[in-house]
Amino acid sequence: MSTIIENPLITRHQKLIKRLQKLFIAGQWQDSAGEETIAVYDPSNGQVISQLVAANETDVNKAVSSARECFVSPVWAAMKPTERQRLLMRLADLIEQHADELAELESIDNGKPVVAARQADLNGSIEFVRYMAGWATKITGETLDVSVPRLKEGKFFAYTKPQPVGVVAAIVPWNFPLMMALWKVAPALATGCTVVLKPAEQSSLTALRLGELVAEAGYPPGVLNIITGYGGTAGNTLVHHPDVDKITFTGSLPTGKLIGHAAVEGMKRFTLELGGKSPMIVMPDISVEQAVQGAAMGIFYNQGQVCTAASRLYVHRSLYDDVVRGIAEFAARMSIGPGFDSNTQLGPLISEDQAEKVCAYVRLGQSEGAELITGGQRLDRPGYYVSPAVLANANNQMRVVQEEIFGPVLTVMPFDSTEEVIELANGTEYGLAASVWTNDLKAAHQITENVKAGISWVNCHNVLDPNLPFGGVGFSGIGRELGAASINAYLEPHSVMMRLA
Ligand code: NAI
Ligand code: MG
Repeated sequence: MSTIIENPLITRHQKLIKRLQKLFIAGQWQDSAGEETIAVYDPSNGQVISQLVAANETDVNKAVSSARECFVSPVWAAMKPTERQRLLMRLADLIEQHADELAELESIDNGKPVVAARQADLNGSIEFVRYMAGWATKITGETLDVSVPRLKEGKFFAYTKPQPVGVVAAIVPWNFPLMMALWKVAPALATGCTVVLKPAEQSSLTALRLGELVAEAGYPPGVLNIITGYGGTAGNTLVHHPDVDKITFTGSLPTGKLIGHAAVEGMKRFTLELGGKSPMIVMPDISVEQAVQGAAMGIFYNQGQVCTAASRLYVHRSLYDDVVRGIAEFAARMSIGPGFDSNTQLGPLISEDQAEKVCAYVRLGQSEGAELITGGQRLDRPGYYVSPAVLANANNQMRVVQEEIFGPVLTVMPFDSTEEVIELANGTEYGLAASVWTNDLKAAHQITENVKAGISWVNCHNVLDPNLPFGGVGFSGIGRELGAASINAYLEPHSVMMRLA
């Protein structure tokens, strides 16, 4: 293996990274009650760059108590909606002011190209927080005509008043660390909840920096508490804590199931976003160039570590050979490198484990009979680089077509008819996203009507908006984020009945 290439971003942010080796509880940066730490790896070269706190049970209990105290405190509980809106606007401004720094921090921690982090993660986060700020002043209940049929007389007046669910445990993954944290934190703060946030052990730096910005924005202490820690210990303690009212989670299906059990056991409200195996369907009227471009963006964006990644490509048989050739050429030409290099199109994966897991899936696909056209190899250099892989002649019986790989691995399959491809697209337990590529309105409609997905795209893929609900059907999860649906997920309607006469 060649020698280690130093990451220049680390020198630039050394002081900041050192400062973040704490827990953020009740507005204070605190040490752990224990000794355990989490190594922070630089995916671009595999070096350990810091040690974070691995929160233990005592730390988690402190964080939940802090969130509870703040939730019932007059300063937060009685805060006017206009003030909650102003604070979120201020937070968005601060994120914007520090967007370059946050993008670089995200790249250091996750490995993704800085350019992509700035453009997608940061721009997306800033506008999302502003969108959620607006909701703080637009929360409404209903007034309802009621008859009370069992009474002959009496006049009644009824309404619902939405109330914040309370203390929220937010558990987030490592693929879009800051953005996933904000998808949960921003609606929670808009509605008047308080939060204990546990970032993923592989990528906690931007979440911790968010804690500093929340304090700077002027939020009361305890509104947002941040505990770095391992899933099996800190995460597990948090989701079982009796004083947590709601759990919101994005991550893997097995962990989602554990969390769902914990939530029901404690009658906590919960939202689960559990990934997918999303199909992209190319109809015969689409050009090979458009199909290749769309498929490449659909699967290789963010190194394939995207819950909606277009990991199953179904191509009409008339285009199949050309599209396979085109996407393989595209993959082979991609420039793979560290996130700090502005020429990089494909950065390293998040971790050694993930890089090994992805390569093992590629080998599994070959042993299942798929044809590896290109990629699927570790690069001969330090860091978690995997060359983008195309597995052709795959089929729905293969594990590589059924299981979420979460890396730059595309499976490609031919089809002959619209009815057939709908059945193939629906042939996994997941149901997060799907896309159809066609200018035939009838075919587009037939597919979006019948495909098993929480979100479908026509002639695009991976396009989200703060106002459009996002989430899965089937094993892709329960509940929705983004949009009004997300606000409602942090509120419970309190029904009030008044006797007037
Ligand atoms: P994971 O689902 O185990 O981890 C996600 C988050 O859950 C992390 O913050 C982790 O600390 C926490 N967690 C883990 N176990 C927990 C527990 N028992 N109680 C409470 N919290 C817990 O996912 P992991 O291990 O990082 O990745 C494994 C695979 O999961 C990936 O290869 C990918 O296929 C999938 N994944 C999917 C994501 C998505 O957006 N759909 C995001 C991350 C991973
Ligand atoms: Mg990391």
